Formats: sequence, C-alpha cells, structure tokens
Amino acid sequence: MTISHILILFIGLIDIATSSNAYNDFFDEELMLKPLSSDHVYAYFQFTVIWETENRVETLQHSHLFPRGLGEIIGRHNVDELHVTLTEGLWNYQKWGYPFHDAGPGAEVIAWFNKDITNIEKEWKGLTNALAGLLCASLNFVDTSNSMSPEFTFRLTSVTDRPVNSSHLRYSSLPREIVCTENLTPFKKLLPCDSKRGLATLLNSAHIHNTNYHSIGIHFRSICRNVACTMTSLELRQTVSLIYDTIVDANQDWSIRKFFGMGLKGACPLATLSNIYVDISDNNTNHIYELTPLPSTKVVSLRGGQQNEIAVYDIRAHSSKGIFNIAAVHSAPKNNAIHYPSILYANRYIIGYGQERGSLVTKLYNNHWQALDIILLENIPWYLLVYLHSITITCNEQQVHPLAQRYLPGRERKSPYYLELILRLPPHSVTKITIDMDYLFLKWQEYPPDANHGFYMGPAIITALLPIARNYTALPFDGSTITSSFNASRDDYLVQLRTESLLISLPTPDFSMPYNVICLACTAVALAFGPLHNISTKRLVLKRIEKDWKGKLFSFFVGKLFGAKKKQD
Ligand SMILES: *[C@@H]1O[C@H](CO)[C@@H](O)[C@H](O)[C@H]1NC(C)=O
Ligand SMILES: *[C@@H]1O[C@H](CO)[C@@H](O)[C@H](O)[C@H]1NC(C)=O
Ligand SMILES: *[C@@H]1O[C@H](CO)[C@@H](O)[C@H](O)[C@H]1NC(C)=O
Ligand SMILES: *[C@@H]1O[C@H](CO)[C@@H](O)[C@H](O)[C@H]1NC(C)=O
Repeated sequence: MTISHILILFIGLIDIATSSNAYNDFFDEELMLKPLSSDHVYAYFQFTVIWETENRVETLQHSHLFPRGLGEIIGRHNVDELHVTLTEGLWNYQKWGYPFHDAGPGAEVIAWFNKDITNIEKEWKGLTNALAGLLCASLNFVDTSNSMSPEFTFRLTSVTDRPVNSSHLRYSSLPREIVCTENLTPFKKLLPCDSKRGLATLLNSAHIHNTNYHSIGIHFRSICRNVACTMTSLELRQTVSLIYDTIVDANQDWSIRKFFGMGLKGACPLATLSNIYVDISDNNTNHIYELTPLPSTKVVSLRGGQQNEIAVYDIRAHSSKGIFNIAAVHSAPKNNAIHYPSILYANRYIIGYGQERGSLVTKLYNNHWQALDIILLENIPWYLLVYLHSITITCNEQQVHPLAQRYLPGRERKSPYYLELILRLPPHSVTKITIDMDYLFLKWQEYPPDANHGFYMGPAIITALLPIARNYTALPFDGSTITSSFNASRDDYLVQLRTESLLISLPTPDFSMPYNVICLACTAVALAFGPLHNISTKRLVLKRIEKDWKGKLFSFFVGKLFGAKKKQD
C-alpha cells in the first residue's frame, strides 16, 4: 500500500467521522397510545424516513435508510405518491373517532404517476405486480376491471412542479384480501432496524392479529425541504394501527407488555427520534389512572377546539435501564361515561331479497350544528349492474339534490361503475342514498372455488373537511411526524371515512350437480362392470366328479333306496 492510498483511506475515515449524516436522511420512530372512550386503546406506530433528495430513478437506486426494494419500484414506475394499506377489521368511526390513516378492509392501493408518463395502465399493472411481490399480498389481482381514477375524492399531497389531474391517479381496493403474518414480515423488513431493535420489536404477529382492528400502511410522497419549497425531500411513512380492547380486565388496566407480549428493549440506534406518546386527556373525574414509569415530559396540544394532554416518553433515555414497559393503573374501576359520537360517520347495507336484484343503501350521519359538504365515492364492481336513474337521496323524508355528480357506467369485465357525488348534509341529520342494482349471472369459470361464499364489494369513501378537530388525530398535510400534529390548528381538517365492505351472493349455478351426475354415472358403471366382465371373460365347463370309496358307498345306498322306491311306484 503506497502512501497515497493510506492518505485517501485516512481522508475517507475523517469524512465519515465528521459528517454524521452524509446521506441526508433521517429516521424517526413513534408510537401513540390513545385510550378511547369505548374501553379500547388505539396504538398507532409510525416509522418515518425523510430523505433529502429528488425523486429520480438514479438516486433511488442508492439508498441508506430508505428501503431500496421499495425505492426501486417507485423509481422504475415513476410514482409521485403512493399509498398501500392492508387492513383486517372495520374501523368504528362512531365509537373510536378518526384514525391517523383511514384504510378500507382488505387491500387498497392509491398511486399518482408522474405527469410525463403516457402509458399509465402499463405502469399501474407493473407497480401493483411489483408491490404484490414486495408485500406478499395478492395485489396482482388489480387490473382495469377494479381500478378507477376518481376526480374529487383524492388530492395529490406530494409536491410536484406541475399539477396533474385525476387521469394520473389510480385507485383500487381488494376487499377479499386477508391480511396475515406473511404481510407483516416483509413490512418490517423495509424498516432500517428491521424488527431487531426499536419500536418494531413490539410488532409480533401473535399480538397483532388478535386485535379488534389492524391495519398496516406504506405512504410515500415528496415534501418541501424548506418554507419557500425550492427543494424537495422524499418522505416514507410506514404505519401500523391497532385497536386493543381492555374490556376483559375488570380494572381496565393496560400496559405495553400486555398488548405486545413483551417490553421494549431500546430505541433503534439509527433513529433520530424515538418516542412513545400516551394521550392522557381522558384522565378525568370518572376515570383516574396513573402511568408507571412517569413520563419524561407532558405536553398540551390545542388543536381545532380540542385540548389534548400528552405524556411523552423518550425511549433513548430509558433504554439504558433494561426492559422498558409503560403501564396504566386505574385507582378505581372505570365508570361508564356518556359516549359522544363523532361528528360524521356512515354505514352501508344491501336491501332486497333473492339473487336477482337489490338496492344499495348508504347512510350518512352529520352530528354537527353546521351543514357539512361531503364527497361520496361509490366503487361498484362490474357484475352489479347499477341504474343511475334509480338513485334517490333523501334527508328527513325530503329529496336532496347533489351539488355535483360524476358517473361512469361500468363495462362488463372491463371497468367498475364509478359514481361520485358532492352533497351538502344539513346539520344534525341522516342522509340516505339508495341505488338499485341487478346481479349479473357470470360465466361458470368466473366463479371462485368457493362460489357460494359470495362476492365482496369494496367500501364507499366519504371525504369531508371538518370545521373542528374533535376526535381527530390525523397529521396535518405539512407534517411528517406525530409531533407535528400537536398544536396544528388549521382552517379545516380532512377526514376520509370508509364504509363496510359488503358480501353479495350473486346467482350461482348448482356446481354440485355435475359432481352428482359423475358420482351416479360412475357407480352405475362400476356395478355393471363386474358381472359384465365375469360373463364375457369366463367360460362354463362341465367337469366329471371323481368319487372316493365313501362317496361310492353313499351313492350305492342311495341308488338302492331310490331303486326300491321306483319299483314300488
Ligand atoms: C370525542 O371527543 C370528545 C371530547 O373531546 C369525547 O367526549 C367523546 O367521547 C369523543 N368521541 C369519540 C367517539 O371518541
Ligand atoms: C387531464 O389533463 C389532460 C391534459 O393534461 C387532459 O387531456 C385531460 O382531459 C384531463 N383529464 C381530466 C379528467 O380532466
Ligand atoms: C390523572 O389525574 C389524577 C388526578 O387528577 C392525577 O393524580 C394523575 O397523576 C393523573 N394521571 C396521569 C397519568 O397524569
Ligand atoms: C401548544 O400551545 C399551548 C398554548 O399556546 C402551549 O402551552 C403548549 O406548550 C403548546 N404545545 C406544544 C407541543 O408546542
């Protein structure tokens, strides 16, 4: 090794030592624990990677904290913004308020493609196939027959130099998808510390899949690096939302160990922020509890008329003291307080009987004292034929006219029915939207193996801007971490609600009939075959019987006896 080599090596070492973050990226891990008024605790994990670079194919191929597998997919398919969620269970907006990220049952993908892309269908197909491989989910079932480009419901939150319209957006939902361990493992692999260190060690499948609701999500976009927005950074948020119930415990006590099966060993060494927050605003007269250990700090957040008190634990300060556990210990059993439902919630069901036709009913509840403007997106699969003229919107027995309406009829096996309505919900009202539909009789090979189980229909999406932030938790648009939602008062608060996904039994042919016929025919053939085979292969031959002396004696006497008899006759 020459002197120059040593010198270069030395300079390199100094370089690494002096610039603590040569890659310009940061990783934050956070967990918010929020006791809800309905004896449930909402646990929300957020793992945020911010990378100060441009969204280009070349840069995304050399990453440090950003997961390279995902980066390559995003770069190759020119994605500006991406949301993938895998959810099991239904979020109860009425009782639980609003989540940080809303997600429909099953799998959901929303992607905005770059403005320069012309063949969006091809990129969309490629993207969903690649994500299917990355997350071990059946996203490869996404195609034109179940994806759409809604015009009002989704807005680009990513920073771009030129705004794009909804023709660059694709949305698809697969309500049949089952979320399991095989999705959680690849999800954890995308984290810088994997599941070896930090908050991700709490994500054990055994304690996640037995919750009332669980949802994992990946959210990617570009954000402004400075106030003037002259440069952009990439933001990747990986989220896990869990709802645990504490009803089983008489005292309603809960702890991290009880929820996740283990305590926390320490922070991820790569993280710049590693915090646990506990929302203790519900610690009031009819519900008093203590937290052990005591939090590092307590902060007060005032947001849109709602005051929250939040206990903050810095895990890095605690990690030196061995395994770390937070417990809430109630001094007295919890009294049941009055539940105030959320401002806006919805539900949906099917009416009608038989397998020929039915009606889809969506009910929207506005509990606010002001009128609310909402956007309703109905995503109806092509095998449910919808009649637009049959749509009726009523509120207190009165006909309501939508402020705007977008409708694209579906085409068989090609595209779903797309209906988007903008409605004004009067204060303290229930609005009912009914639409008639026919059930299509499919081709026999289009039925899934378990044909009598029925077909799933994805949720409707309701988008609204709430004037106040009651029961609202989501991060503001310009924020990346949970801390950014403290004191984040804005003019309005965007919520998106998903309704139930429905199970519809389409007319199904009697698939057991051919089976029965085959069974019967086989039995008949089998029964006939034996005798026929015998008759056609065996020959009857007469054989003389050789008798021994006993037989001879016997026949002699018999002969005598019958001979005598014959003579008598
Ligand atoms: C919404 O928040 C209010 C007070 O902030 C609380 O009384 C109410 O129970 C909450 N409702 C839900 C559904 O969480
Ligand atoms: C979107 O913009 C393109 C041109 O940029 C235009 O051709 C297209 O009609 C627009 N689509 C919608 C739905 O507005
Ligand atoms: C809850 O309130 C009681 C009394 O108001 C107080 O002593 C206690 O420290 C509070 N608990 C927490 C976790 O702040
Ligand atoms: C939020 O605002 C209140 C009052 O203005 C202040 O006391 C509190 O410290 C702020 N909280 C945070 C997290 O900045």
